[in-house]
Amino acid sequence: MKTVSVIGLGNRGTEYMGFIKAFHSKKAKIVALCDCRQQALDDIAPIYDIPKDKQFISTDEFFSKGVLSDALIISTQDASHYEITKAAIETGYKYILLEKPVSGKKEEYHELRDMAEDKGVILIICHVLRYSNYYSKIKEIISGGQIGDIVSINHTENVGYFHFAHSFVRGNWRDEYTSTPSILAKCCHDIDLIAWFMDSPCTSVSSVGSLKYFCKENAPEGATEFCMGGCKAKKNCPYDAEALYITDPFYKAKFIKHMKRTLTGKAENSKDDIVHAIKYGDYGKCVFLNDNNVCDNQMVTMQFKNGATAVLSMNGHSNKMFRECHIVGTKGELIGYNAKLKLNIFGGKSKTIHTGSVGFTGHVEGDIRLINGFIRILTGEHKELSDITTIDATVISHDIALAAEESRKNGGVPVSLS
Ligand SMILES: NC(=O)c1ccc[n+]([C@@H]2O[C@H](COP(=O)([O-])OP(=O)(O)OC[C@H]3O[C@@H](n4cnc5c(N)ncnc54)[C@H](O)[C@@H]3O)[C@@H](O)[C@H]2O)c1
Repeated sequence: MKTVSVIGLGNRGTEYMGFIKAFHSKKAKIVALCDCRQQALDDIAPIYDIPKDKQFISTDEFFSKGVLSDALIISTQDASHYEITKAAIETGYKYILLEKPVSGKKEEYHELRDMAEDKGVILIICHVLRYSNYYSKIKEIISGGQIGDIVSINHTENVGYFHFAHSFVRGNWRDEYTSTPSILAKCCHDIDLIAWFMDSPCTSVSSVGSLKYFCKENAPEGATEFCMGGCKAKKNCPYDAEALYITDPFYKAKFIKHMKRTLTGKAENSKDDIVHAIKYGDYGKCVFLNDNNVCDNQMVTMQFKNGATAVLSMNGHSNKMFRECHIVGTKGELIGYNAKLKLNIFGGKSKTIHTGSVGFTGHVEGDIRLINGFIRILTGEHKELSDITTIDATVISHDIALAAEESRKNGGVPVSLS
């Protein structure tokens, strides 16, 4: 039986723990927990029978006990990933699953890559999309040569208006200085996919983008700091927090239904808890009068060494959250839309590809398969690392994202990566 510790008992950490318990209980078990919120420890420890002496309120305390398990999951917020992962490697953990993004600073994620290599640590980053049936199938078709050599990729990340407002205007990823720019926080997955499909080094990046809409100039007349603070414009505002989080009985924005823990910090919530959070907390704030600064639209153009090109478009204003992808090769093309895939062979057949994609919300399917892959690596059932998203792959996506941000801040001038 392999043992796993977890630092960061929020949405991601608890989801991963749930999968280990539900699908891998014969192979692995959770043995130690760390979170800087006592409420999180109190909520989660009983579910996994974690004794008091294996519950830690700080990472200093956690690491002072030495290596407590065969593997460690780090699922804290972005800004702490570097320090915690460095401490984990120095302490002696050999199998680490770390949430993305690794860091918004190039020198930090390069250092972690080098440390992992030096110490023989398997440091896997949660690029969950790669593990889904849908994206695995796209990669399989490309690798099988059916569309020939890739000439260009046109990929769009439609974040969803409610999701963008929740995470990037009101939530944890609204400030590039406490988290990272949205092109890294949200789109390191998309850039990772493009680089993975392309299988050739990216040599040059240029980018334009802005925070166009969620700013003070666009606040409607009568807007107040909190939606429930007497706002006169809330009736016609799709971002009204009271409607989104409390009164919409059907949760049109389904995604938000799962976010109650984020609003209150508690696993179980009464209606009063939610109302209090929306009246006074971050998620009840006007989307136009907040302190957010990350881009709500950005385009990235990439040149690859093999001569192919790619364009990534991120927008925060779509009605639903979904991704689109058009991959054009010398012999055919793949058209992906919201996890549905079509293959057109030039001068030949056109067919719908059944990817085996499961219709879960968001990327739960990829999350489950990532944990499956992690456990199989941990138990030694799977030894091949080339199909696992180790930090070597992450460095590529992060370098491209940061180059895009550098280009955007300099008016779109190309940034060389070679
Ligand atoms: N792979 C993906 O597709 C994906 C999707 C969403 C989020 N994420 C990433 O996952 C990470 C976690 O996101 P989340 O939504 O679970 O966040 P969250 O805020 O719900 O959870 C983070 C938890 O870490 C704890 N924490 C923070 N700093 C800590 C510290 N120094 N020591 C101990 N505990 C600490 C918090 O109290 C909280 O319980 C983020 O980096 C985020 O960007 C990845």
